Amino acid sequence: MTKFAKWSVFCLGMVPFLVLLYRALSNNLGPDPADTLAAETGEWTLRFLLLSLAITPLRNIGGWPKVFPYRRTFGLFALFYASVHFLIYLVFLLQLRWSEISEDILERPYITVGFTAFLMLVALGVTSTKAMMKRMGRRWRQLHKLVYLINILGLIHLIWILRTDLTEAVFYASILLPLLAYRVYKYYVRKTSSHINLSTPN
Ligand code: HEM
Repeated sequence: MTKFAKWSVFCLGMVPFLVLLYRALSNNLGPDPADTLAAETGEWTLRFLLLSLAITPLRNIGGWPKVFPYRRTFGLFALFYASVHFLIYLVFLLQLRWSEISEDILERPYITVGFTAFLMLVALGVTSTKAMMKRMGRRWRQLHKLVYLINILGLIHLIWILRTDLTEAVFYASILLPLLAYRVYKYYVRKTSSHINLSTPN
């Protein structure tokens, strides 16, 4: 990844945040600013999670090997937007009533699901460095498979919030399902070919 490409992707990833900040500072967030902030940051978290998941198929099927380093970049952007999303929830929706956090997380299923996904995302962010990759070896690959579950939990969180009009959730699901199906397909191809290799005499 060239320095220019790195900076361009970084600047593009920050655009939604800066636009939101500008809208907040210019009082342009609609009738319920806290709700708008929560919805926008939540959606950007999901979008970056999906982008990060799309990189491997783009590399393998689309023949775009150069996109691979962006998998981590998009994952870190997802973590960034999820952290802002969580902060907005704490400050504007929960209004820093610390004593109610655990009750809220444990008793409201959509918050439980979102919080679980967030904790997993933090774990992936903390272990996303090359040094951690080396140190953890095989366990790193296993841990980072959590990204599939995080995406699924993110979608469940959204479905729980939307309740009736599921148009938005159907849109995200139509992107997520093929991306997951691709992994399942790859898994079976790998399993079958290793089975054939084992059963073929040398
Ligand atoms: C990976 C983690 C997460 C993802 C992908 C995610 C995703 C989303 C999305 C897409 C929305 C927008 C719904 C809409 O369009 O209106 C949303 C809203 C929301 N999320 Fe999350 N979220 C995550 C974590 C969390 C966490 C940790 C919390 C709080 C503990 C949280 C609390 C909320 C709240 C309060 C809303 C607004 C609900 C409403 O409009 O009534 N989310 N989230």
